[in-house]
Amino acid sequence: MTIGRRDDTTRLIGLLLGTENDWPRAFETLVRRLGAVTHRGAEHELRTERITIEPFDLRDPVRYDVVIDRLAWWYYHPREWLKKAALVDDTYLLNNPFTFQAMEKHSAYCAMIRLGFDIPDTVLVPYKNPVDHEKWAYTAATYNLPFDLDEVAGRVGYPMYMKPFDGGAWRGVSRVDDPAALHAAYDQSGQMLMHLQAAVTPFDSFARSLTIGPETKIMKFRPELPMHDRYEVAHAFLPPEAGMEILTLSRTINAFFRWEFNSCEALVSGTSVRPIDYANACPDIAITSLHYYFPWAITQLVSWSIFCAVSGRRPRVDTSSRDWFDVADDPELSWSDKLGRYALLADRYFQADEYREFCSHALASLPDLVRDWVASADFDALLVETVRTTYPAHEHDRFVAHFRGLLGLWVTDQAAA
Ligand SMILES: Nc1ncnc2c1ncn2[C@@H]1O[C@H](COP(=O)(O)OP(=O)(O)OP(=O)(O)O)[C@@H](O)[C@H]1O
Ligand SMILES: [Mg+2]
Repeated sequence: MTIGRRDDTTRLIGLLLGTENDWPRAFETLVRRLGAVTHRGAEHELRTERITIEPFDLRDPVRYDVVIDRLAWWYYHPREWLKKAALVDDTYLLNNPFTFQAMEKHSAYCAMIRLGFDIPDTVLVPYKNPVDHEKWAYTAATYNLPFDLDEVAGRVGYPMYMKPFDGGAWRGVSRVDDPAALHAAYDQSGQMLMHLQAAVTPFDSFARSLTIGPETKIMKFRPELPMHDRYEVAHAFLPPEAGMEILTLSRTINAFFRWEFNSCEALVSGTSVRPIDYANACPDIAITSLHYYFPWAITQLVSWSIFCAVSGRRPRVDTSSRDWFDVADDPELSWSDKLGRYALLADRYFQADEYREFCSHALASLPDLVRDWVASADFDALLVETVRTTYPAHEHDRFVAHFRGLLGLWVTDQAAA
């Protein structure tokens, strides 16, 4: 968060990081190898920098044109710095900390219900152990009505999930099959605020979609497996209508909340799409999670952040929910008409045409550069180091072979494409 000023020809992308070192190194390497980018006749040097956490004056200038944040969802000092950077300095943020703080998973459910998506029945129940506050006894006695948890659960129906309204990292999530499990889970919830949500079961596939700017990759996900096996390499695993709905849903939720780097989850049966988790606006893109899909993700992250840094795209902290609600509320529109309108609104927000044009001209060399790098010894060294820091020693050989195989497959598939 050091002080300085931007100049006109150099664009600086800041990385706000937690523990990861894999994708940041990939990002830095690719930006360095790409070199200067020419857009509308002007040449832009690109630099990256890892952001450090320091006291900051609210008037300190911010040198970064774009910041990619993977930290502020759990560490709040930099989140407040991001807000200052957005409000005082017009810094472009991936993602918008305002909507992410104010409108977590619960709000994403509400917004999607309003827009017509098929969210499973969800009820928010009051705290098991309300906040420790001197005013609570009076408020509780006067206003906090006793409620019958079994009756609420009966309306939602078994099986169901009990999970925190602001979700993330599987904290406090339990599947509830009967009243005994319901009471045990509620008793354990303590000071967490919980949703009861009808389980979608059975389903044909679990789709996890990663969206960066206007581009989305829908991946088949197996949450019951260990992290390295959760993303399955599977192409065309969804009926086309379901795939289109998930694409539109992913871009809609992102454009609606101004999230530009987010991963979303939906359970699909036939052509029916049931979204269950759409607010992961600091998504994990580790090589050891995404493997085959990592090159796609890092290419998009590099491309979208460079587009935001050099094209003059203005950051937007405010939302325009009314545009979306007008579509949702229009009785003349069918569901597929609405999806079409949402897709247009999302494309407009993300400047999708301009972005694709930018990628095919200013970043024309990037796809080959990524492919050559992923096939190189330099990438292999990063892969080996990442495995060494992620897994215990006796698993190193097995995982190096596993991820080499998957990334080798990606390189081969590029040649075939
Ligand atoms: N309504 C549901 N129907 C079926 N399965 C569900 C439902 N809700 C949650 N799950 C299961 O529980 C898992 C965790 O729930 P959810 O994604 O909502 O929580 P989370 O804390 O955001 O988890 P993560 O950070 O891992 O995405 C899901 O990946 C899914 O396997
Ligand atoms: Mg989830």
